[in-house]
Amino acid sequence: MAQDTRGAAPSVIEVNDVSMVFNMASEQLNSLKEYFIALAKHQLFFKEFRALDHISFSVRKGEVLGLVGTNGSGKSTMLKIIAGVLEPSEGSCTVRGNIAPLIELGAGFDVELTARENIYLNGALLGYSKHFMDEHLDDIIEFAELRDFMDVPLKNYSSGMVARIAFAIATVVEPDVLIVDETLSVGDVFFQEKCERRIQSFIDSGNVTVLFVSHSLEQVERLCTRAVWIEHGVQRMVGPVKDVCRAYRQQFD
Ligand SMILES: Nc1ncnc2c1ncn2[C@@H]1O[C@H](COP(=O)(O)OP(=O)(O)OP(=O)(O)O)[C@@H](O)[C@H]1O
Ligand SMILES: [Mg+2]
Repeated sequence: MAQDTRGAAPSVIEVNDVSMVFNMASEQLNSLKEYFIALAKHQLFFKEFRALDHISFSVRKGEVLGLVGTNGSGKSTMLKIIAGVLEPSEGSCTVRGNIAPLIELGAGFDVELTARENIYLNGALLGYSKHFMDEHLDDIIEFAELRDFMDVPLKNYSSGMVARIAFAIATVVEPDVLIVDETLSVGDVFFQEKCERRIQSFIDSGNVTVLFVSHSLEQVERLCTRAVWIEHGVQRMVGPVKDVCRAYRQQFD
């Protein structure tokens, strides 16, 4: 592990010169049939879209890093690369420890299954054993406050109810790295405050490294110590959260 000689905490996340290029079909194809015809005629062209362009930053153990940027700037793409969901086109990303990602609402869930079944499914995806999930099921249900809805299929859940289950599972034990991408914004104010208290208890323990995305700059400033501002895939600034949020706000002045 890279240990800083000045005795500072070791870095847990290192993002080294990461770029992400998506291929987008340059014309609208309305069916799979049209797609195969275009493919056979060698008429399938792609435009390259650079969602992230040479991003580099590192996060030390126990740090709470905010990511800010306008819609479509590349924040979720960055978090997916850190979580290992996406492979960067260029550059590399290393993470030390286990990650609890809360990135896309409902990812890792099957809407046809009941909430109870989904808790086990999602737990398995996070690497927890059946035995572990049996032991923690009550804590999860209790935190989500959805005891009466455990045998209802997830398709009948509201988005806030799904967020409750997702947050409760991801934070049932202290992860090394917690990634929260706007998941909380669909929860009601009471649940948001409850989640924030749990995040704060992780932060206070000093063992959990947190990556936090929210369009509420007030919340980012309250929870985070440092921030990265990514705009249209370009890294505009990294530094103390107040400075980054001020610069981000000023772009619209
Ligand atoms: N799988 C994909 N294929 C093609 N383009 C994609 C894909 N995923 C993301 N993009 C594009 O990459 C850009 C960045 O998207 P991303 O979801 O990372 O933005 P964001 O900063 O999280 O935005 P928001 O604040 O709205 O959540 C967008 O233009 C989006 O359309
Ligand atoms: Mg996003």
